[in-house]
Amino acid sequence: MKKLNPIMISGKEVLPLIEGGKGINASDGRSSGAWAHENCVGTFSGVSPDFYDSKGNVIIEKFFKRARPERHEEMIEYAIRGGIAQAQVAHEVSGGNGRIHMNMLWELADSQRILNGVLEKAKGLIHGVTCGAGLPYGLGELASKFGVYYYPIVSSARAFQVLWKRAYHNFVEYLGGVVYEDPWLAGGHNGLSNAEDPAKPEKPYERVVALRRVLNEMGLQDKPIILAGGVWSLSEWEDYIDNPDIGKIAFQFGTRPMITKESPVSDAWKKVMMQVKKGDVILQKFSPTGFFSSAIKNTFLENLMRRKQGEVAFKNEPDEEFSHPLNMTESRIIFIKPEDAEKAVNQINAGYTEVKETPDSTVVFLTPEEWKQMKIDRANCVGCLSQCQFSTWSQAKGTTGRLPDPRSYCIHKTLYEVGHGGSVKDHLLFAGHQVYRFATDPLYRNGIPSVKELIERIKKGE
Ligand SMILES: Cc1cc2nc3c(=O)[nH]c(=O)nc-3n(C[C@H](O)[C@H](O)[C@H](O)COP(=O)(O)O)c2cc1C
Ligand code: SF4
Repeated sequence: MKKLNPIMISGKEVLPLIEGGKGINASDGRSSGAWAHENCVGTFSGVSPDFYDSKGNVIIEKFFKRARPERHEEMIEYAIRGGIAQAQVAHEVSGGNGRIHMNMLWELADSQRILNGVLEKAKGLIHGVTCGAGLPYGLGELASKFGVYYYPIVSSARAFQVLWKRAYHNFVEYLGGVVYEDPWLAGGHNGLSNAEDPAKPEKPYERVVALRRVLNEMGLQDKPIILAGGVWSLSEWEDYIDNPDIGKIAFQFGTRPMITKESPVSDAWKKVMMQVKKGDVILQKFSPTGFFSSAIKNTFLENLMRRKQGEVAFKNEPDEEFSHPLNMTESRIIFIKPEDAEKAVNQINAGYTEVKETPDSTVVFLTPEEWKQMKIDRANCVGCLSQCQFSTWSQAKGTTGRLPDPRSYCIHKTLYEVGHGGSVKDHLLFAGHQVYRFATDPLYRNGIPSVKELIERIKKGE
């Protein structure tokens, strides 16, 4: 295994090993601080991070206001308090070593307000901000204002080109590097473009070389590329190290740090990850953000997959193709294709009696319990996203103007609950596609390693 040499990240020479940010509460001050303590980089999630009472107990978020815009304001306030709290924890745990980064989901409603609020009050504690899910045009200006390095997360050279031309060329000094996140392999949301086929993964090497070429053209030879998605043993990535076609490189780990002593995820979640088999992570498009994402196939995901598989196209008026009547409600009849009739009836007979319209002129079938829960979840929406396909909340306009999508779910609710001890069967478990490797990796045979032990292993290429 080639020796890993320190590189400059966010103004300090550190080992080029990074814990990726994971919301909600799957990377926090404890885990990121532990990575920084080993002279690496830790990233805590800025999405609804935990904050504490005067005795140091986590305050579980509760929303008291009735109107959604007001609950949204409560959410912003909590997020700012949480970001500051996690920065403080990370700083203490790190002992001043390494670098601490904060991750932000750009498509979060008011993400810039949250970042401003946290960076203002956590001066000197946060050295870099990473930001993905969408094109974070405003990130360069915002981070530079605070003298904090910024790292856009992209999945192609083209995406960086767009960001650079439109905004970042004015904010070169604090551009810390670019995270290349493999859209077919990484956990969490995935940046697949319309031109890319989820079923046809492309090799990262050519894509990373293309990104370096673009960076060089822009005079950014000294900015590292941070490789994320599918990174487990560095021995498999040796040809990326000291390679002039790739230049300065650091490696970001998202899934692997989740089974460490310092990882905030529950023991039950860790146990699930230890048992996952190859192929149990599904790349799908159920997220209310509209992005692809990768998660473990559990009851939660299976329900969404079943619902999607049962989807049937319809028209309000019959025609030659859509000639078969179906009672959607007592007072509404729709028309489906005769060849879909059996599919519809089978679902209704199996108890999926609630027939619900999607924004794409199709219907899906839910149980009465599922439908009841969906209505509650929509009513409890706190407006966490700038636009939400599940509830139709839009930060800019109040509503997206589309129909709410019953093929989706409230991502805030499910991630918050599983991030705070909720059932690992009935909530979304984001994970990278290499998660099955926990089951056979010798590092985990004798129990859960510490971050220090994991990093020692990674340095050896294992
Ligand atoms: C549980 C989980 C949650 C994640 N949440 C976020 C997030 O909120 N924002 C983000 O930019 N990336 C998120 N990621 C992506 C990671 O930061 C990292 O880039 C990715 O997991 C790398 O791929 P790997 O899982 O194959 O190591 C998440 C990943 C996981 C597994
Ligand atoms: S319904 Fe959508 S916008 Fe509302 S809290 Fe849930 S995920 Fe966020």
